Amino acid sequence: MCAGSHLANRELYTAFIRLITAFHIDPPKEKKDEPILDCLECNAISTSLTTDPKPFKCGFRARDRNALERWMRESEERTRDL
Ligand code: HEM
Repeated sequence: MCAGSHLANRELYTAFIRLITAFHIDPPKEKKDEPILDCLECNAISTSLTTDPKPFKCGFRARDRNALERWMRESEERTRDL
C-alpha cells in the first residue's frame, strides 16, 4: 500500500478545507464541461492505480476577496524562508 497515505490524507484535507473556505465552486456553464461522477466512467486512464479524472470545468469565486488576499499575504510571509 501507499507508504505516504497518512501524510497525503492530511495534505488533501488541508488543501480542500482551504479551497472550500476561500471559494464558492460553481458548476460549468455548458453541459459538455460537467464532471463525470460515475466512479469507473470518470477515469481517464482505466489501467492506472489511482483515479485520474477526465477533464471537466468549474468556476472558483472568492467568498471574500479581502480575506483571501490577506490569507495569501500571510502564507507568503510564513513560507518566505523555506
Ligand atoms: C494523494 C497522494 C497519493 C496517492 C494517491 C498515492 C498513491 C499511491 C499508490 C496507488 C501506491 C501503490 C500502492 C500499491 O502498490 O498497491 C503508492 C505507493 C507508495 N507511495 Fe503513495 N500516494 C500518495 C502520496 C504519497 C506521499 C505523500 C508519499 C511520501 C511522502 C508516498 C509514498 C509512497 C511510497 C513510498 C509507496 C511505495 C510503497 C511500497 O511499495 O512499499 N505516497 N502510493
